[in-house]
Amino acid sequence: MRTQIAIVGAGPSGLLLSQLLHKQGIETVVLERRSQAYVEGRIRAGVLEQGTVELLEAAGVGDRMRREGLLHRGIELSFEGRRHRIDFDALTGGKSVMVYGQTEVTKDLNRARQAAGGQTLFEAEDVSLHDLEGAAPRLRFRHQGRDHELSCDFVAGCDGFHGVCRRSIPSEILKTYERVYPFAWLGILSDTPPVSEELIYARHDRGFALYSMRSPTRSRLYIQCSPDENLEDWPDERIWDELRLRLGGEGGEALQSGPAFEKSVTPMRSFVAEPMRFGRLFLAGDAAHIVPPTGAKGLNLAAADVRVLAGALAAHYAEGRDDLLDAYSETCLRRIWKAQRFSWWLTSLLHRFPEDSPFGKRVQLAELDYLTGSTAAATTLAENYVGLPFE
Ligand code: APR
Ligand code: PHB
Repeated sequence: MRTQIAIVGAGPSGLLLSQLLHKQGIETVVLERRSQAYVEGRIRAGVLEQGTVELLEAAGVGDRMRREGLLHRGIELSFEGRRHRIDFDALTGGKSVMVYGQTEVTKDLNRARQAAGGQTLFEAEDVSLHDLEGAAPRLRFRHQGRDHELSCDFVAGCDGFHGVCRRSIPSEILKTYERVYPFAWLGILSDTPPVSEELIYARHDRGFALYSMRSPTRSRLYIQCSPDENLEDWPDERIWDELRLRLGGEGGEALQSGPAFEKSVTPMRSFVAEPMRFGRLFLAGDAAHIVPPTGAKGLNLAAADVRVLAGALAAHYAEGRDDLLDAYSETCLRRIWKAQRFSWWLTSLLHRFPEDSPFGKRVQLAELDYLTGSTAAATTLAENYVGLPFE
């Protein structure tokens, strides 16, 4: 087997890259360890920056998102029993975000790839990478009980945090940066109307809570919990009680409860691997970096990487230029580190830390008071939330 770009991983990074390259007439093969049903069933975050929305449209997968996604022009911050709106529209000169589940993005991308006749091999096992430093890298894998070899011009490592691609870069070349947070999020979906039209990020002495949504009739809710939380200790009623308490006031009373499904615990980590390139291997998305979910930057960062990579590969094939490929890692990392800073900051601002002192609490409240009282402070939140500009 031979292709131009071998893509490892059919998450949002791999699928979006394949679609952008297809639009440029560049051929790809996607190798995915899991089944299509598994990949399309994973529940992840659901906020798309304006730039991600535009990129999905450019990739030809924007129709359903435009119809079913919810345009949000602000968020609310809740603390000390009161709610304050951050008005993206006014603070960023008319920018907004789109609430549309990553699960739906993945489905749309799979449909588009199928329609385009692109090849995705699901349940590809034991993928290994070879000759990355030469001109003709190869991938070996097993598929439907047989061994295969795929040769290509470049490999795109889009196989997430636990994938094989990052591990294929020699450890003396790869530098990693990591912070693991001492808490997690317990998330649920529920077919109940969202408590507010916009997302509410709540800081509370009992811990953080987030009131998000997937549609006008489906809520997505999270509460801060411990990383080793046992889901059996969390019957629906206990989760709703906690959500009510952490929102407080009339909002808490108005919160409509219902059966919870897709209950899960998400650990929280910040992680960056540098450089994002080794020979003819390019890492993109979670394979190279992880953010804590506060602020929903994960998918957006993945989309930004893929945008840069698709442009650089197109320049290689169309113009014989490699300067963009050479700059790929540096170009991506400049923006990634800013999103890392933002995700870490928003996480630190809103969560209860085990070592929290009364001093720490007062600093969080002072910062929230400042954010909601100063246009300058609110603008930094708004412009990061809707997405920093691309290079
Ligand atoms: N071989 C083939 N496929 C693999 C391998 C492997 N060895 N290891 C992992 N994969 C697949 C996974 O099964 C998964 O489908 O790679 C895919 C990686 O997808 P994601 O983890 O979704 O990562 P990415 O596409 O970069 O998307 C980033 O997803 O995790 C969220 O918050 C993150 O929203 C962000 C987005
Ligand atoms: C979500 O809806 O899943 C979501 C929204 C905002 C976040 C994180 C997750 O910051």
